[in-house]
Amino acid sequence: MPVNKICCIGAGYVGGPTCSVIAMQCPDIRVIVVDKNKDRINQWNSDLLPIYETCSWPAAITLSEEPGLEKIVFCCRNRNLFFSTDIEAAIKEADLIFISVNTPTKIFGEGKGRAADMKYVEEAARTIATISTSSKIVVEKSTVPVKAAESISKVLRANQKAGVTFEVLSNPEFLSEGTAIDNLINADRVLIGHNDTPEGKDAFEDLCSIYTRWIPRDRIIGTNTWSSELSKLASNAFLAQRISSINSLTALCEITGADVSEVALAIGQDHRIGPKFLQASVGFGGSCFQKDILNIVYICECLSLREVAAYWQQVIDMNEYQKERFTKKIIETMFHSVSEKTLTIFGFSFKKDTGDTRESPSITVCKRLLDEGARLHIYDPKVFHEQIINDLVYATRDPEKVNKSVNIFSDPYTAANYSHAIVICTEWDEFINLDYSNIYYSMKKPAYIFDGRKILDHQDLSLIGFEVFTIGKRI
Ligand code: NAD
Ligand code: UGA
Repeated sequence: MPVNKICCIGAGYVGGPTCSVIAMQCPDIRVIVVDKNKDRINQWNSDLLPIYETCSWPAAITLSEEPGLEKIVFCCRNRNLFFSTDIEAAIKEADLIFISVNTPTKIFGEGKGRAADMKYVEEAARTIATISTSSKIVVEKSTVPVKAAESISKVLRANQKAGVTFEVLSNPEFLSEGTAIDNLINADRVLIGHNDTPEGKDAFEDLCSIYTRWIPRDRIIGTNTWSSELSKLASNAFLAQRISSINSLTALCEITGADVSEVALAIGQDHRIGPKFLQASVGFGGSCFQKDILNIVYICECLSLREVAAYWQQVIDMNEYQKERFTKKIIETMFHSVSEKTLTIFGFSFKKDTGDTRESPSITVCKRLLDEGARLHIYDPKVFHEQIINDLVYATRDPEKVNKSVNIFSDPYTAANYSHAIVICTEWDEFINLDYSNIYYSMKKPAYIFDGRKILDHQDLSLIGFEVFTIGKRI
């Protein structure tokens, strides 16, 4: 059955960009992205495109520069790309429906802190079943636990109208923030899990015929549904595991005199290993790595696969260890106390080129320093001041302390003025070329720099007079 009309439930980071690219590549297909959040839809229909945060508390908005997104949306919007809150109308007329809603870690109940909260996916499935008066292909775009398609099918079948059928596909998304459009247009692969039935194979071909408009056929992988669901979780787990593996060597490097960057270079030259995702850091952040690994851990525990669960849990434990180790090093180096001292934090987002702070390592570092009585000056080129305060109040559960001890600045030089130390938490390019001589003279002495991202010229900084500490290298 040719797909003429697509509906995407969830106008978030994945739904918006993915459907914009589909609309651009398939001008003959009508694509409607729907969301129950009216403000979000209004923004997608405005000149200032939104990428919204989904932290459970407090709800917040960030604007994201996603290169290429604006151009595509402005070109296709109201031509064959629409953003709407009329979820029912969009579902009714669609041949194919993407479920692209959020799947955060559960914050209460069974599996709290580990299992994926599937309530939004289930809600979307119920709405589809209740509203649909014709048969549909339903595509899981959200990252879900293995076997989620079975639950979705069950909800759909239990509520479907007579004569209506649903075929469920798994089509996880692999884009990264900041490179979403490039990742979507030049995807390494498109993964489509389907049932091994004539209907499942037909639905697979229908979805394939959309992607083959711009993705070479040999990059489209067809698998069984469970392999597809697991591959998405495993892909994030492998990426995070590489970071934890290289980070695990940093403490060893600092003690022995090895340099982790040289080690990473040497390891990565082996083409079987490759150079990517070997940048040692204060720790990984972002909305998905931790959530998806916790999801694997939870599934394994539920299936009594204790050793497998422990293996993947270690990737997260190593990440926590790294953030804690970095903060401890700061405190130890500054004569075992940061109480009443002013530390300037450079970078609050979870990585450069985004204003997204979800699971940012900067939050953990700031919280620990605040617990030790430090005063914080924080500068980030993209994150809204209000977002920083909200994140720290949420992390510390102590608004009074945050109010008293945290100041947010709009430029790095004022932020560093009269402070005892600078702590680099995000690898923003602009931090590399600051005038550190000027900064040094404006700081209290001894003036410390703790480079949690390994981006600065440490020799230069030492020559200026700084006491320098970085990850994975003795200075
Ligand atoms: P998001 O929070 O930015 O967007 C989800 C949207 O779904 C929200 O706007 C919410 O209002 C909407 N929604 C929830 N339930 C709804 C319902 N019943 N009806 C209508 N709208 C509903 O989330 P996101 O970052 O786009 O992530 C979506 C999924 O994709 C998650 O499972 C995530 O793990 C996965 N993923 C995210 C990324 C990323 O970089 N953000 C990359 C790959 C995969
Ligand atoms: C990640 C994956 O890269 C995407 O493929 C996936 O689709 C997405 O998660 C998801 O499922 O949400 P993203 O979270 O946007 O994308 O960011 P990454 O670029 O992967 O970085 C994650 C974290 O790891 C950041 O904090 C980054 O600074 C850190 N990192 C990355 C390192 O510390 N070292 C590295 O070598 C690479």
